Amino acid sequence: MDFSVLFTVILSISVTIFISAEATKTFRPIRTLFQFGDSLSDTGNVIRLLPVGPTLPAARLPYGETFPGRPTGRWSDGRLIIDYTTMALGLPLVDPYLDKNASFRNGVNFAVAGATALNASFFLSRGILVSSVGSLDTQLRSFRTYLASICTTPRECGDYLKRALIFVGEIGGNDINYPLSQGRSLEEIRTYVPFINQAIANATREIIRAGATRLVVPGNFPIGCFPFVLAASASNDSAMYDELGCVRSANDLAIYQNSNLQITLDALRREFPYVSIIYADYYNALLTTFRKAPLFGFNRTTLLTPCCKSRRYNLLSSEFCGNPTVPVCPDPGQYIHWDGYHLTQEAYRRISQYVLPNILPTIMVISTTTCR
Ligand SMILES: *[C@@H]1O[C@H](CO)[C@@H](O)[C@H](O)[C@H]1NC(C)=O
Ligand SMILES: *[C@@H]1O[C@H](CO)[C@@H](O)[C@H](O)[C@H]1NC(C)=O
Ligand SMILES: *[C@@H]1O[C@H](CO)[C@@H](O)[C@H](O)[C@H]1NC(C)=O
Ligand SMILES: *[C@@H]1O[C@H](CO)[C@@H](O)[C@H](O)[C@H]1NC(C)=O
Ligand SMILES: *[C@@H]1O[C@H](CO)[C@@H](O)[C@H](O)[C@H]1NC(C)=O
Repeated sequence: MDFSVLFTVILSISVTIFISAEATKTFRPIRTLFQFGDSLSDTGNVIRLLPVGPTLPAARLPYGETFPGRPTGRWSDGRLIIDYTTMALGLPLVDPYLDKNASFRNGVNFAVAGATALNASFFLSRGILVSSVGSLDTQLRSFRTYLASICTTPRECGDYLKRALIFVGEIGGNDINYPLSQGRSLEEIRTYVPFINQAIANATREIIRAGATRLVVPGNFPIGCFPFVLAASASNDSAMYDELGCVRSANDLAIYQNSNLQITLDALRREFPYVSIIYADYYNALLTTFRKAPLFGFNRTTLLTPCCKSRRYNLLSSEFCGNPTVPVCPDPGQYIHWDGYHLTQEAYRRISQYVLPNILPTIMVISTTTCR
């Protein structure tokens, strides 16, 4: 390993983030952040949804044990990518939409753990059960309601949204997880992918039409590296696994999902040439985190096992993380996986370091040109 090269890379990443944050303070092009998504970015919505929300694992320790030291509804030991993004923008944390005491001064987080990109009707008509917390469509409805409360004319709303950064996702991962965990074949799930990405594109289009000019649409993670997938496809056939020990076929599905999403985004960019639509490569961000794990201080013997040692990958099971009988590692900073479905704060921090340098400079360029 050539450490000097790596050091240069790390240095340039931190310099980029630093410059962007500094420039942001001067120009203030981004004043708010809006987030749509699922449990990868839910900072406190699903646990406020009655009646089940307050009983969910993320409402209990060890969730939140690293940050802020108590459960907030984040599905991790601490911060998520949205938290690192707002920090890099020089903004305070964004409030979850269902927090009735929130000011929403820095934007709104509409993400709800368990949400799908497609409507539940899509899955129900195929005999697949999905969570009742809603879909991207439900989050868009909340977005419309919120927007109507702060601006009245299209011009007024447009002026407001022009200063916002909008994350549409990650969303769509659950559209694959639910059928996968209900025994559907990867071949069948593959046929859902174009619909999933159409739902994401339709939502993005509506947000742009409301006036947004800076959007980030992240792809899916390499799901074959996740404990819930590894557990479901345990096998002695070594050809099923790649060099990291991840399930090849599941990763191939995520690769297809992401490449189809990027094609869909290209079409959107042609439709809206003056809007910045950035694809965030969560897939390679996590893969790079695995590859550099020893250098990043992760324990290489436990890369594919969760810190919070769920024994059944069912959120409602008493053997899932958040229950007193489930052991938790003393050092979450040495783990990438948190509970089998979600990552640790340290993993999200590394992923943010990978994706934010591709997002923030693009936003700065656009903002200076639109300011003049
Ligand atoms: C709501 O916010 C106010 C002001 O920040 C605070 O004093 C109060 O304790 C909060 N209430 C709840 C229920 O969090
Ligand atoms: C999803 O549901 C909403 C109404 O809740 C509807 O407007 C929309 O067309 C639906 N989308 C699909 C793809 O069925
Ligand atoms: C996306 O929008 C198009 C045009 O309105 C509609 O025909 C299609 O059903 C929508 N797809 C999804 C998945 O929402
Ligand atoms: C793998 O092989 C071991 C020993 O032959 C066996 O006990 C185990 O059940 C096998 N596991 C699977 C998933 O086939
Ligand atoms: C890595 O994890 C293994 C298994 O839990 C443990 O035995 C070992 O001490 C850990 N290494 C470090 C450096 O903490």
